[in-house]
Amino acid sequence: MTSRLALLGGRPVRTRPFTRWPIVGRAEETRLVRALRSGRWGRLQGDEVRRFEERFAAMHGCRHGIAVANGTVSLRLALIAAEVPAEAEVIVPPYTFFSTASAVVEANMVPVFADIDLDTFNLDPDAVEAAITPRTRAIIPVHFAGQPADMGAMMRLARTHRLAVIEDAAHAHGARFRDRPAGSLGHLASFSFQSSKNLTCGEGGIITTRDRGLAERCRSLHNCGRVPGGVWYEHHLISGNYRLGELQAAVLNAQLGRLEAQTNRRDRNGRYLASRLAALPGLHPQKRPASCTRHSYHLFMLRLDGEAFGAPRAAVIEALRAEGIPCSAGYGFSLPQQPMFRNRAFGPYLQRSAALPDYREVRCPASDLICREQGLWLEQSLLLGPRADMDDIAAAFEKLYEHRAALAAAAATQRPRRRKGAG
Ligand SMILES: Cc1ncc(COP(=O)(O)O)c(C=O)c1O
Repeated sequence: MTSRLALLGGRPVRTRPFTRWPIVGRAEETRLVRALRSGRWGRLQGDEVRRFEERFAAMHGCRHGIAVANGTVSLRLALIAAEVPAEAEVIVPPYTFFSTASAVVEANMVPVFADIDLDTFNLDPDAVEAAITPRTRAIIPVHFAGQPADMGAMMRLARTHRLAVIEDAAHAHGARFRDRPAGSLGHLASFSFQSSKNLTCGEGGIITTRDRGLAERCRSLHNCGRVPGGVWYEHHLISGNYRLGELQAAVLNAQLGRLEAQTNRRDRNGRYLASRLAALPGLHPQKRPASCTRHSYHLFMLRLDGEAFGAPRAAVIEALRAEGIPCSAGYGFSLPQQPMFRNRAFGPYLQRSAALPDYREVRCPASDLICREQGLWLEQSLLLGPRADMDDIAAAFEKLYEHRAALAAAAATQRPRRRKGAG
């Protein structure tokens, strides 16, 4: 029997911190200072953004990369570049960050939610097929947590119904589907470099594509509608300035040098941790299909069946944190239940659309169950340490399971608290 739960005054499994994020070294300092001193801070003057675009796109199996201000703008510009018409329907998952769907509204298109698979946490192809109507023009599969969605099924549906496929690869830097990089699997893809992401410069994003025409439209869209060979004050498309800056790209160029090794390490550690946790009753780490040949583990995510484990999620999270394992419940509710969707608070967008869904009526049972009761997230940086760190995480879960009766009793005596969504 291990010592008492740390939550109840016992010794925690771990007192040392996990790997800090972001990781900063000499490479970032050198490149950033060089860009700073050059005085060429804008994308159109310097060379850092251009070099980053080329390197990132090549690493992700694409000829073209267009770096932009963030991973929300990249989704919106990709939808516009794909020439999805105004007020057309775009299928998105309900279990993802807000931007996957808000970018659709901000492109004046209608998000339609199709549920995820309860075990892979990615779009369920059957649910996508059932959601297709004559108004559907695009699908945005999210590679959730860094595990590629079922892109074989998505592209088959896209071919049959003539749909554009835009990968939301915000979690999937370096991930691979059947040995092909995420970012090269659909018509266009969108990545984020926001602070928590596996590749970061604080804020940033990129669109990748293998199609020259799409790339040219994205390039124009991210640069105030300018066209190659055009003069500076000549604008061909409604657009804006969504360019990434040189200082951010300098940081990204340095971070990119570490991505391959970090992704391999997360993948190794994630596989190992999943095998350890799956051995415990009630724990269901994200199911990994054979098609996932590299998981980028932006999140290590699992479902916790509280009944089978012997204690509810809120108590498990509190107890894990007390044992020195940072974790969270993730999203508090499925996207259709966000106040913005419930109230269709779309501002100037979609004002005249007759065919808007009543999002209050949308039910996504798998996503709802995960949000309400079962989702549990560990952040990517926890997977960057040695295998001994995974052993600590596994030992903490095992300890909780061993002491589940005490944990459940402690949870029962606590007043229920209202949980805030974690993001
Ligand atoms: C799945 C997903 N899509 C899109 C985004 C939006 O990226 P950004 O925050 O860079 O706008 C995020 C990021 O937070 C995300 O997790």
